[in-house]
Amino acid sequence: MQKRLRAWGMGLALAVAAAPAAAQQDTMSVRSPDGRNVIGIEPRDGRLFYRVSRDGQPVMLPSRLGFEFRGGDTLGALRVTGAARDSADETWTQPWGEVAHVRDHHNELRVHVAEAGGQARAFDLVLRAFDDGVAFRYELGERFGAFEMMEELTEFALADNARAWWIPGNQPEPDRQEILYSSSPVSRLDTVHTPLTLQYTNGTQVVIHEANLVDYAGMYLARTQNRVLRSTLARWADGVAVRGTAPFVTPWRTIQVADRPEDLAPSLLTLKLNPPSRIANTSWITPMKYNGVWWGMHINTETWGSGPTHGARTENVKRYMDFAAANGLGGTLVEGWNLGWDVDWFNTMQATFSFTQPYPDFDLPGLAAYARARGMTLIGHHETATKIENYERQLDSAMALYERVGVRAVKTGYVGDKTEHGHAHQSQYMVRHHRRVIETAARHGIMVNVHEPIKDTGERRTWPNMLSREGSRGMEYNAWGGEGGNPPEHETILFFTRMLAGPMDFTPGIFDLLIQRPTGTPRRPEDARPRTTLAKQLALYVVLYSPLQMAADLPENYADQPAFQFIRDVAVDWDTTVVLNGRIGDHVIVARKEKGQDEWFVGAITDEEARSFDVPLSFLPAGRRYVAEIYADGPGADWRDNPLPVTISRQDVDAGSTLRIEMAPGGGQAIRIRPAD
Ligand code: NOJ
Ligand code: CA
Repeated sequence: MQKRLRAWGMGLALAVAAAPAAAQQDTMSVRSPDGRNVIGIEPRDGRLFYRVSRDGQPVMLPSRLGFEFRGGDTLGALRVTGAARDSADETWTQPWGEVAHVRDHHNELRVHVAEAGGQARAFDLVLRAFDDGVAFRYELGERFGAFEMMEELTEFALADNARAWWIPGNQPEPDRQEILYSSSPVSRLDTVHTPLTLQYTNGTQVVIHEANLVDYAGMYLARTQNRVLRSTLARWADGVAVRGTAPFVTPWRTIQVADRPEDLAPSLLTLKLNPPSRIANTSWITPMKYNGVWWGMHINTETWGSGPTHGARTENVKRYMDFAAANGLGGTLVEGWNLGWDVDWFNTMQATFSFTQPYPDFDLPGLAAYARARGMTLIGHHETATKIENYERQLDSAMALYERVGVRAVKTGYVGDKTEHGHAHQSQYMVRHHRRVIETAARHGIMVNVHEPIKDTGERRTWPNMLSREGSRGMEYNAWGGEGGNPPEHETILFFTRMLAGPMDFTPGIFDLLIQRPTGTPRRPEDARPRTTLAKQLALYVVLYSPLQMAADLPENYADQPAFQFIRDVAVDWDTTVVLNGRIGDHVIVARKEKGQDEWFVGAITDEEARSFDVPLSFLPAGRRYVAEIYADGPGADWRDNPLPVTISRQDVDAGSTLRIEMAPGGGQAIRIRPAD
């Protein structure tokens, strides 16, 4: 890593006041290594603003910085007292990921700021410029003491009435991420979640998010004026947003910038803004495919609670494990194994889960051993119903139990809007809780997959056992969700929004797309079901990145299905990722190279429209011969009334070939490219 440090004298404030505008721009800003992105500050009338540009075009107009503490205490008149520059160029290898190596190449400007009078509180504003975006954070000095922050006043004054792709956030109730995306001009937004993806009229793509959320409240964006968004923080039950004792560092506010939607992914900015791994030996952290006692509960053929169709019966679980072992999957998830599902568990106040006591018909040690003997793992499940104290009380013994019997991964769940004491889902209280779970799991050698999580801000760099999470409408909504399930465009939006935060446990791979429920009740057209073709289900394994990928359907629905071969073959860990073509809400085509193998996978998905593309395979190494195994929408395929036809074919290809990808309405295509024999 190269480091360059240059401190500026205390006379800076004066020098700035006297300098002409162009020189100010120069001294108070920092430029990305490729020179295109610039972030700088602008003190004005005792207030502090930042601004961002790309290629000289404004991205953020002067946007205010600051805080409000309890009692209406905002920062007094501010002055810049000095600054320092730094830069870094460092590449690290990820234990797992959508790419093997990440390069953090940035320039930094650290600006020292102080209140001119009053409490004379001082803080640093640290600005970093990367080729793929900019970021900044506040580092509060000791004079802030023990504080109660009511709001962070950071603004994002967009330079354009950009088109935004958003889900509503931080409403009084409910506080959820499992909402369908909408798109509208920024001037029509209310309060929204991040990542917030924005398309400027000049074509620039901008994503506002945050990184390294460790001991702070999750940030939403609320529109205050025409095109001005302001940070608004999730709250403790008493209305405070953040409690802390200075010195104190906030999360990074990130603004990813790209020329085309295709260049937004893979999005690695947040990883560069998190500390390196705290886990020295990561060999026990293994990406995998898994199946599980799960979909049956969502389509009502099995139950979480006790009874004749209890899913977590030992014999039933063995059936799932046998299927997983026979097909090279690494794990079997079992939900409903522990006492507590026979009450109204959806209700946070009523939930009484035990995380150590199994139902009598579930043999935990026996099944964990059964899995281990087959080279796989039982994946445990902790649904908390957001009753956090109940979970934290049992956390260590629950993880120790898993470690003892050899369960190597856990799926957690946070059904519910607020904790039993009224803290918001993304509040500082919950941020602390999630870190505690990740760290406890790490101590016991357990990988974590969180449902109804807090947003992903790059934790996986520091804690690589934090594998995957939900945090959007996944497959389960196609079992019982309103509006008939997720619309066909859903995943083409997710790729450019939710997925820019990090991996998602979407749980693809439903083959019985018409959900022929055994009850014999005729289905009504408005009933929920996956609104995709079968080929699109396969493509989702490549398009929606997760180091844990579920083969989500019932084992019997994969029997005698040639298309299941793709799920057996597809990789879950990658050397490289290339987005070949994409438009938000329309289509995505992605190629990924399997980690350490000369094998590529391509996933293509479309929305409700049929689409065709000619895709050059120039991403392949030149001079080598490959075979493409193609799983395409079959004749007459259509998500509406004929989702099942898949045509499987083979084609000899090399780096000079072009593949014609034709997708049906709601369709897709999945391709494995392996070396020719
Ligand atoms: C919601 C999760 O997303 C789902 O996967 C799980 O089955 C239920 N909660 C029960 O924990
Ligand atoms: Ca969920």
